[in-house]
Amino acid sequence: MKIMVVGSGGREHAIIKKLSKSPKVTKIYALPGNAAMKNEAECVNIGAKDIEGIVNFAVENKIEYAVVAPDDPLVLGAVDALNEKGIDCFGPRKNAAIIEGSKVFSKNLMKKYNIPTAEYEVFEDANEALKYLDTAPIPTVIKADGLALGKGVIIAFTREEAKAAVNSIMNEGQFGESGNKIVIEEFLEGPEVSVLSFTDGNTVIPMVSSMDHKRALDDDKGLNTGGMGTIAPNPYYTEDIAAECMEKIFLPTINAMKNEGREFRGCLYFGLMLTKNGPKVIEYNCRFGDPETQVVLPLLEGDLFEIMRATTFGTLNETEVKFKDECAACVVMASKGYPEKYETGKELILPKDIDGEIYVAGAKNDGDKLVTAGGRVLGVVSTAKTLKEALDKAYSIVPSVKFENAFYRHDIGKRALMAKEGK
Ligand code: AMP
Ligand code: GLY
Repeated sequence: MKIMVVGSGGREHAIIKKLSKSPKVTKIYALPGNAAMKNEAECVNIGAKDIEGIVNFAVENKIEYAVVAPDDPLVLGAVDALNEKGIDCFGPRKNAAIIEGSKVFSKNLMKKYNIPTAEYEVFEDANEALKYLDTAPIPTVIKADGLALGKGVIIAFTREEAKAAVNSIMNEGQFGESGNKIVIEEFLEGPEVSVLSFTDGNTVIPMVSSMDHKRALDDDKGLNTGGMGTIAPNPYYTEDIAAECMEKIFLPTINAMKNEGREFRGCLYFGLMLTKNGPKVIEYNCRFGDPETQVVLPLLEGDLFEIMRATTFGTLNETEVKFKDECAACVVMASKGYPEKYETGKELILPKDIDGEIYVAGAKNDGDKLVTAGGRVLGVVSTAKTLKEALDKAYSIVPSVKFENAFYRHDIGKRALMAKEGK
């Protein structure tokens, strides 16, 4: 089958590599993809938010199946627009993607269906929010309602910080219309776990759990980023916790969406915090996580394409989804300056014949050279029987990836290894 994948990052590279292994897939287009994907996909210069361009390309090229990976096109209704032209897709329709597109929607959904999450208040008026902050418990968490490139969450440790966040989101328009409404919520503490799941709207199958490392620098210092590395499985996510999450969070969420007439098909991402009062939802994403996908998919056995189609056609209950009993680690290598203004255009040299994978997020061609073209440039991924071995392997590959002023965290998986030792 001739398929296309919308998106261009490391997550999409991991998805495309896995899909390219399916005997049913004969050709993959990436819209827009990046230059490092050329072995597995033909890149087409149509942006992920250009819904009309995406649909026209799909129709003109008789695409038989589309995977819409990033949040923006999902929230904008790319799946609906493709479905209208008779093209089957992996990913939720617009009315279900709202679970990520609006934090007010997702918080109200959790409240209505008793799904454990942080206590919260919604504000549409800055003065009311500021008044509330005079007495709100501190620390507190301020969230812009809409998509904000992963930056719409501010954890405020003082009342002044909280008020400054409200002012910049609501009065100064820091995130544009995404900040017309805000959620102010209870600050929760505990280990974080990412659980991606396949769902066809009725059945939900969690994938292997993972742990992201969001801060730019070692020991969780520096600014928040899109993710500097991941490991899977997450040692804090025990079988008992998994069972509790299935009963109190995963199934209730899928059923709530169905009950609201917003059946969710695709990958639903549960961002969880394991608090002393049990697991709670920190966020939902309507898509695969990045860089979680880079450690989850290498552990998936079987045919990703078949599983994706089962979510589309409602046959997930008859589909086997199995993960290897192994561990995976991803070390992200980033450009100097990231997550603020960063360097680009540095020659990128990728090693061959490695015991792992390199999923490239930001690269383009400059003549016959490959050069960097993003903040997060790539993720080096290895799998092994133990987490320690997977990490050692990934870190042993890192020095052979070359671009000027590359930086990466040296402590990916450190906390997970300590958890395994019961520390
Ligand atoms: P999000 O963009 O929703 O993933 O939030 C970014 C990060 O902010 C999360 O990964 C958490 O580390 C943190 N966070 C979000 N909500 C809370 C909360 N209620 N309490 C503590 N930390 C939070
Ligand atoms: N790694 C977090 C996300 O994909 O939103």
